[in-house]
Amino acid sequence: MLDLDVIRAEFPALALTHDDGPRTYLDNPAGTQVPRRVLERMTEALVEWNANMHGNFRTSVRATEMSRQAHLAMADFYHARSEREIVFGPNMTTLTFTMARALAGRFREGDEIITTHMEHEGNNSPWRIMAAERGLVVHTVPFDRHTYELDLDVFDALVTERTRFAAINVASNLLGTINPVEHMVRRLREVGAITYLDAVQYAPHGPIDVQALGCDFLVASAYKFYGPHQGVLYGREELLAELPVSKLRNVPDVAPDRWETGCQSLEGQAGTIGAVEYLQWVGRTMGQEFRADDGELPERTVEVHAALRAMVAHEEVLAARLIAGLQQVTGVRVHGITDPAAFHRRVPTVSFTVDGPAPVDPAEVARFLDRHGVYVWNGHSYAVPVVEWLGLLSRGGVVRVGPTHYNTVEEIDRCVSLVDEFVSRHRTAA
Ligand SMILES: Cc1ncc(COP(=O)(O)O)c(C=O)c1O
Repeated sequence: MLDLDVIRAEFPALALTHDDGPRTYLDNPAGTQVPRRVLERMTEALVEWNANMHGNFRTSVRATEMSRQAHLAMADFYHARSEREIVFGPNMTTLTFTMARALAGRFREGDEIITTHMEHEGNNSPWRIMAAERGLVVHTVPFDRHTYELDLDVFDALVTERTRFAAINVASNLLGTINPVEHMVRRLREVGAITYLDAVQYAPHGPIDVQALGCDFLVASAYKFYGPHQGVLYGREELLAELPVSKLRNVPDVAPDRWETGCQSLEGQAGTIGAVEYLQWVGRTMGQEFRADDGELPERTVEVHAALRAMVAHEEVLAARLIAGLQQVTGVRVHGITDPAAFHRRVPTVSFTVDGPAPVDPAEVARFLDRHGVYVWNGHSYAVPVVEWLGLLSRGGVVRVGPTHYNTVEEIDRCVSLVDEFVSRHRTAA
């Protein structure tokens, strides 16, 4: 079980104040705060070995070794076969554009690709641009506007011998829904399609095992799981070795070097090691009961998975309280799974609108909460396909409240009571 006092003491930002009161970070789906371990790793990188890689002097040798360690750490985080399957980049979006350019040449006019209405734009635009350039047919799997889950019958019918590629979100950064990617990847592999999974939103809220999933690519960003701004892609080794890529001629033509051309953010990679170390520490000290050690996984993977499961157990309590509280507020409509029995199919990211005779502008809610030190996002949060499908784009999108493992029940209650206060005032004024 998590000891929240101990956890919170690890995050310096949680002790800062907003005017004279506390800060309540519920903007976590957009980016989490960072623990001391991450700050230490980044400071060490910038002070003790601030050099580019592959030189013959001490700081550069250290930089080269730390980059290797970062690849190894993320290989264990994803349970990849080796560090050669890990590519670092500035963020998920840039990595995805790179991969879209690299994959484009494999497809011919008329080939079919699949995506969903549940994507973040970062897993949508790159593939649609690729499809337009190559003359590919794009099929989009809808989600049900009442259950907020993908229509698997439509998906199953769309997968045929003509399907060459699919880009799928593991968890929606707006609805919170976790998609049945195991099933989807299995079906897609049966027809030989390449699979590209966006795990950016899912990564802080559950264990990832790319070998068990069988996907070809999976991408996440460390700043969502307590690290710095740093994108990290898993790619099947054969594909990373053989796909065409634009690189400088002196860069070795081996993975991952061929993808990581130019000087990388080594402080970002160091911070990512720190994020994995933080998760290991949580797994070791508070996640013993969540260990699933079948002897197959590396110890670091087991520890990280135990930490994430321990975090999820706490996050489910927060999400249940948040959803139940919001549903008591007149006019609030939660856009996502609300039944606690189905919480294993959602992350704790909760979006809502205030409907009825006097609809509320989500931006006004966010500004009101900010006046009280509670930070939440409003709008589409780049989940443009989702908000379009819900018909909410022209209405200003949603208010998104995103707890994570360091949030407390008291913070959730405060947020709900502020939403209630705002809505009551708004109705009286209307
Ligand atoms: C589901 C999802 N995909 C992709 C992204 C884009 O990630 P990045 O900022 O690393 O490009 C985000 C960021 O919020 C996200 O939540």
